[in-house]
Amino acid sequence: MIIAIDGPAASGKGTLGKKLAAHYGLRHLDTGLLYRAVAKRVMDAGRRADDVAAAVAAAKTLDPAAFDEAALKTPAVGEAASVVSAIAEVRAALVTLQRDFAAKPPGAVLDGRDIGTVICPDADVKIYVTATPEVRARRRAAEYRANGRDITDAGVLADILKRDERDRNRAAAPLKQAPDAHLLDTTHLDIDAAIRAAIDIVEATRAGRGRD
Ligand code: DC
Repeated sequence: MIIAIDGPAASGKGTLGKKLAAHYGLRHLDTGLLYRAVAKRVMDAGRRADDVAAAVAAAKTLDPAAFDEAALKTPAVGEAASVVSAIAEVRAALVTLQRDFAAKPPGAVLDGRDIGTVICPDADVKIYVTATPEVRARRRAAEYRANGRDITDAGVLADILKRDERDRNRAAAPLKQAPDAHLLDTTHLDIDAAIRAAIDIVEATRAGRGRD
């Protein structure tokens, strides 16, 4: 089974992806980390995030096994990831890695922006996770503060709005809900309720398609 989860920044798709994968015994790929890793390598090389040659070279030589998740999950890397991910050649360089991950038995949960639309258009289940920008900012800011980062809700909100705008309006694989994706709005749901809702979607989809 392949489950595609898409949604805007800090919508909770990463947590949902991880929990759904554990629930169904599937592997999980947070595809945002791929773009973050490309961005970090470009930054570490002292180049600008919109340096196409540097970003494409980084994308072609990524090693997901060597990712340092904590170093990738910073606001600065997220912002730069949004810039490198608008480069069509960067996206193209990462397609095979993502599709190969999805295709390996017993299947996988992938979360990102274009999983249901571009990477796995034939996914068994597609979920589009969203929440209001204010709620997403509050949750992400709390996460940052728990990790010792000094940051306000308002600062995170500004960052989220800017990234949403860029991720939705780029030409290459913009963030959008696939026509056959189930909408999951977590604005008024805590994490346990969101996971239950996601499992309900998976179960209803499988029952509807007659899968076991
Ligand atoms: O989900 P995230 O915040 O870790 O993603 C960081 C950036 O990477 C996001 O702003 C857009 C980009 N991204 C993408 O374009 N496509 C994906 N499948 C995943 C992330």
